[in-house]
Amino acid sequence: MAFDTLFSEFKLGDLTLPHRIVMAPLTRSRSSQPGDIPNDMNAEYYQQRSTAALIISEATQISPQGKGYAFTPGIYSNEQIIGWKKVTDAVHASGSRIFLQMWHVGRVSHTKLQPNNALPVAPSAIAVEGQAFTYEGMLDFETPRALETDEISGIVEQYRQAALNAKQAGFDGVEIHAANGYLLEQFLKDGTNKRDDIYGGSIENRTRIVLEVVQAVTDVLGSEHVGIRISPTGTFNSMTESNPQALFNYLVEKLNPFNLAYIHVVERFGDVTSNNEFDFVQLRRLFNGAYIANGGYTGKSAEQSLTEDNSDLIAFGVPFIANPDLPERIKQGAELNVADQNTFYGGDAKGYTDYPRLG
Ligand code: PHB
Repeated sequence: MAFDTLFSEFKLGDLTLPHRIVMAPLTRSRSSQPGDIPNDMNAEYYQQRSTAALIISEATQISPQGKGYAFTPGIYSNEQIIGWKKVTDAVHASGSRIFLQMWHVGRVSHTKLQPNNALPVAPSAIAVEGQAFTYEGMLDFETPRALETDEISGIVEQYRQAALNAKQAGFDGVEIHAANGYLLEQFLKDGTNKRDDIYGGSIENRTRIVLEVVQAVTDVLGSEHVGIRISPTGTFNSMTESNPQALFNYLVEKLNPFNLAYIHVVERFGDVTSNNEFDFVQLRRLFNGAYIANGGYTGKSAEQSLTEDNSDLIAFGVPFIANPDLPERIKQGAELNVADQNTFYGGDAKGYTDYPRLG
């Protein structure tokens, strides 16, 4: 099949993308320890995937408190900035572009991963189900500590500083991670936000912290260098929301005046099929910037989404793990390498930088 739209240019903020295939953020848990520092192997991995029109980095903690998994990288120390510079230099040398995904996990952490073994923080003291990936193996999640109202400005400040650090590390922009059950989504959705202060209750209050973060980050980087990722129907990390359409329509309308580069919408994650009632096209039409669609797309369904004007860009996750030359494979209709789940998180070059290219 012809992929005329998929392989057409797109202007994203001040960047000109050569085609529409974006590499989605993928946690790979291979940063150097101690210190959560990006290394040469990470740079090689991203360089190999510079075939993407735009790379969104793996989720990266904005502070020690924002960490929730062993071996994930940070963007708060000087060593981390230097490590990331190797990555951005490698990607730019190969002619591509890269945004940093800014992450605070909120309750999806463990005392064993937190500074001074403190409890993880969240909007409300409600535990996530399941287990955390720590340096001592998988451990049951604990009940988090509810943030005090006067602590929130400090968290917003962590995002502002992380954005400045990302700029210093050579990133073309940042993506605010407000999806998949981490801190910002814990505030957005009513299953996890039971607060009775100005950050909880009404939709206006639950979206407040996200809009404060957007304000802080766009203040320092300029709106064209900022995107945001949301997952309106996501249930990953024990998330629930009673009225996602109202919540996310409201959020998008409040985002419009910021003129962000994009919203990146997780339409499907894992085998979640609970999104039948959600109208993603309505969200796309409400938003005044670019719409990146993500979740189980193929070349064919990507082309169709673009030609129907339901999206501007399509982000591929797992296919990029196993196919560093994914765009070329889609263009040629070539077979895709299958990703090995056992090497997704942690480890060495195996299942990371050793997937073959075509030919
Ligand atoms: C994960 O590590 O499983 C993970 C991280 C970030 C996401 C989703 C999943 O947004």
